[in-house]
Amino acid sequence: MTREQVFTLEATPLKFGRGAAGDAGWELERLGVKRAMLASDPGVVAAGITDRVREAIEAAGIETEVWASARVEPTADSFAEAAAFAVDGGFDGFVGVGGGSSIDTAKVSDLIATHGGEIMEYVNPPVGEGRKPPSPLKPLLAIPTTCGSGAEATTVAILDIPEQRVKTGISHRYLRPNQAIVDPELVASLPGAVVASCGLDVICHAAESFIAKPYTDREAPDSPGDRPPYQGATPISDIWSAKALEYGGRHLRDAVAGDIDARGWMMLAASLAGIGFGAAGVHIPHACAYPIAGLKHEYTPPGYDTDHPFVPHGQSVIVTAPAAFRFTYEALPERHHRVAELLSGEPADGPDALPDVLLGLMRDLDVPTSIGTFGYGIEDIDDLVEGAMKQQRLLVIAPREAGPEDLGVILRTSL
Ligand SMILES: [Fe+2]
Repeated sequence: MTREQVFTLEATPLKFGRGAAGDAGWELERLGVKRAMLASDPGVVAAGITDRVREAIEAAGIETEVWASARVEPTADSFAEAAAFAVDGGFDGFVGVGGGSSIDTAKVSDLIATHGGEIMEYVNPPVGEGRKPPSPLKPLLAIPTTCGSGAEATTVAILDIPEQRVKTGISHRYLRPNQAIVDPELVASLPGAVVASCGLDVICHAAESFIAKPYTDREAPDSPGDRPPYQGATPISDIWSAKALEYGGRHLRDAVAGDIDARGWMMLAASLAGIGFGAAGVHIPHACAYPIAGLKHEYTPPGYDTDHPFVPHGQSVIVTAPAAFRFTYEALPERHHRVAELLSGEPADGPDALPDVLLGLMRDLDVPTSIGTFGYGIEDIDDLVEGAMKQQRLLVIAPREAGPEDLGVILRTSL
């Protein structure tokens, strides 16, 4: 095999700071937009944020229509509804205001409005056909209202395929937003439990990217167009991931407690981690998270304003992280020590250092440390393993090859 010698790093231009969302209209005008579709979700509308952003856009003389039905776990059908609205609306620009699902809905609406076709044509193979957009999309502005997904900085739109019990995505560099506005005031009223889960997701994005397989361990692609969006760890993705870990370790506890400055640092950490994992990729904890969130719906998370049971994404990811990093330790011990040091601010050594730091953080934030809390027992391990094994797009980035037996050990340990 010819090893990869090349890596790339692209980043969304970021505008950060309290009150920055007031610049939404100015940014769209700068991008040449005259008529915008604003994708959002009912929770963000109820918080008054969607209207605030719409007013800021309209104040710049830009017509704005709101699509506020983004689903928390988007499916091809929910993306298709938004895309139909986008096609009919004759928009020349797009705005995503919300968590990852709203921003991803804006990405896909832009894709279909610009290039036509069906959602599944663009979805990653083998689930979809992997069609690539032939040219850049219309301008897209992303305004996150959580401190977690990093979707404003990534090239993917994640969707659920309920019939196949798998999550997959559309990934292409043209899906990356042209501009992000990250405004800490938008997360001032988030419940602490939501900040905790989002922040643990950020920490996993950064830790998994920092402990990803080095890009030089991949096979070189036949052509530049075949180079995967998730390249493995590179010297530059490491910089972003490391900084996100440092901010996460230093500020997440205060952010959960309601400190607005700490929430700003976590929002910044989410974007930095998004740039890091948007280049390097995430692996075992995220692969296990999909079946954990998808197979049973019995857990109603405390502190969330919800009328249906679900496992928050960050909780589904962090819960297997201690066991996953115990498994990957032997592949890159120094990197595991470094992640533990960045999170804790103290020297770290040995295979248990990182799992211990993560478990300490989870206990401090009062999130479940066992998949048993979500309703799983030993009898569910095989189904969970099967679900995680479907996430090969992620598992190939792990620094140590994880087969069904290895994932079984990780999931049993996480009980
Ligand atoms: Fe995540």
